[in-house]
Amino acid sequence: MMSRKFVSPSILSADFGNLQKEIDMLNNSCADWIHLDIMDGVFVPNISFGLPIVKAVSKLSVKPLDVHLMIVNPEKYIEKFCRAGAAVLTVQYEACAHLHGIIQQIKSLGMKAGVSLNPHTPVSSVENIINDIDLLLIMSVNPGFGGQKFIPKSLDKIRQARELITRTDSAALVEVDGGIYIENAGEIYTAGADVLVSGNAIFSAANPKEYIEKLKHI
Ligand code: DX5
Ligand code: ZN
Repeated sequence: MMSRKFVSPSILSADFGNLQKEIDMLNNSCADWIHLDIMDGVFVPNISFGLPIVKAVSKLSVKPLDVHLMIVNPEKYIEKFCRAGAAVLTVQYEACAHLHGIIQQIKSLGMKAGVSLNPHTPVSSVENIINDIDLLLIMSVNPGFGGQKFIPKSLDKIRQARELITRTDSAALVEVDGGIYIENAGEIYTAGADVLVSGNAIFSAANPKEYIEKLKHI
């Protein structure tokens, strides 16, 4: 199957003092989703934002919210993020002892279920749940901070993810997150990505709306 070329801008690098303006810009752009990075200072060495921001963005956004949980014990918060407006809810593979159950819980609430793999976690780890998920997120940086450098090995993992999905006839989309710019977006799509997350590149661009357009139509 051909990849879809979705763009999901990460608001981690947005101006939180002007959140309404930033979301308006995304509403008027060709962004497909809005990516929200939730960090707890335990699973990752950084704290970002939580439920009140997700709720506020949900009220302002016309785009589906793609919520990426980089937190321990995500099962405790699934219902809360659903009520806050998440359309896609992604958990970190490494944070889940009972991943299969968590995926079922996410889907039973009507959300799309995503699983994210840290750079050291092999794609083969998700073989037994690949037909249960809607999204496989390949982290192309170590999660925790925006503006890091893309780890080149991620390209192999994207190819492996695409191969696994084709082989198992899974409907999961391949999303890639971290260090994505216009300069490497083409090869990431070519490797098999459907959805590109990009934060720093978009929000530090002179014209973010135009930058999103370029990422989508590369
Ligand atoms: C990293 C986050 C990413 C990050 C991507 O922990 O999951 O979503 O914000 O941002 P850039 O594009 O700045 O690498
Ligand atoms: Zn993310």
